[in-house]
Amino acid sequence: MMPPAADLPRDTARPRVLIAGREGQLARALLPAFEAAGWSAIALGRPALDLAAPAGEIIATVARHRFDLLVNAAAYTAVDRAEDEPEAAMAVNRDGAAALAAAALEQGAPILHVSTDYVFDGRKGAPYTEDDTTAPLGAYGRSKLAGEQAVLAANPRAAILRTSWVCSATGHNFVRTMLRLARERDEVAVVDDQRGAPTFAEDLAAAILRMADTLAWADREAEPFGIFHLSGAPDTTWHGFAAAIFAGAAARGHRVPRLRAIPTSAYPTRAARPADSRLAGSRIAEVYGIARPDWRPALERCLDALIGPPVRARIAASAA
Ligand SMILES: NC(=O)c1ccc[n+]([C@@H]2O[C@H](COP(=O)([O-])OP(=O)(O)OC[C@H]3O[C@@H](n4cnc5c(N)ncnc54)[C@H](OP(=O)(O)O)[C@@H]3O)[C@@H](O)[C@H]2O)c1
Repeated sequence: MMPPAADLPRDTARPRVLIAGREGQLARALLPAFEAAGWSAIALGRPALDLAAPAGEIIATVARHRFDLLVNAAAYTAVDRAEDEPEAAMAVNRDGAAALAAAALEQGAPILHVSTDYVFDGRKGAPYTEDDTTAPLGAYGRSKLAGEQAVLAANPRAAILRTSWVCSATGHNFVRTMLRLARERDEVAVVDDQRGAPTFAEDLAAAILRMADTLAWADREAEPFGIFHLSGAPDTTWHGFAAAIFAGAAARGHRVPRLRAIPTSAYPTRAARPADSRLAGSRIAEVYGIARPDWRPALERCLDALIGPPVRARIAASAA
């Protein structure tokens, strides 16, 4: 029988990671990625670790574990709901994240904290670099920006990884929403004037794992800390992404709806989204040698998991 997570050996030669978040898209990709790479990995989700709890409680919970790196994959991610409860978003995304950073520091460990393209207003007209001015449009983006600042202030060995449009075969995301709408409707209208890039959780987890090997052992003056951007490639629009999803569904023998391009003005949401939040990935490429992952093969794998392989592959498999 496996020992309970808290009892994982502490004096092992294997590096140890504590992942904040357990059921989210990224957390679910991180745990197997770290384990497959030989790390001792523990993922803590609610109720064991509640980032809305007082800082002292969070620090005490984290202090029960020994680790070489803490990765924060938990967040208040309800972008529209955050407009109605900004304090709840701040409690998790700023105060909870800051408590995690402080808890890591207590053990002399670094923290890798995941953030978002929504810290930008999308008006630059070119891919954002890490030095660009932030100007979030909504409560979620403000809470994530405040979280970045709080994490950097709380732990000198902090890396912030901003990403965008996270998808996976589990959880709430655009791929699953499009597949549901494809079943329900004859026509689907998707905004064509918001630019950015999908990032699949498995690709993000692979990048984080690569960063982790360096981060866990780097000292505070080293290059690997600070802010990094990583999203999938190539950049597209939500409409372009929907077209790729429907093409993949059609290749798998699914009926797909007509896809109509609409402007953001025709699809009002509670929170404003940046019109162009493309992220430049040059710093992470230089410091870590990590290239922007192509989201298209990851989409294929995601569709395989959700609705099975393409028809051609099924025919070939049954003929073999
Ligand atoms: N999703 C995106 O499109 C997107 C885009 C850019 C950046 N990001 C960032 O990427 C990171 C990972 O996002 P994701 O897509 O994996 O998010 P997700 O699927 O929505 O998962 C969020 C996780 O955070 C946990 N969480 C929420 N409130 C919490 C609390 N009070 N205490 C402890 N855990 C709490 C949730 O726990 P429960 O399972 O208990 O609800 C869930 O496991 C986040 O930092 C997010 O801001 C996401």
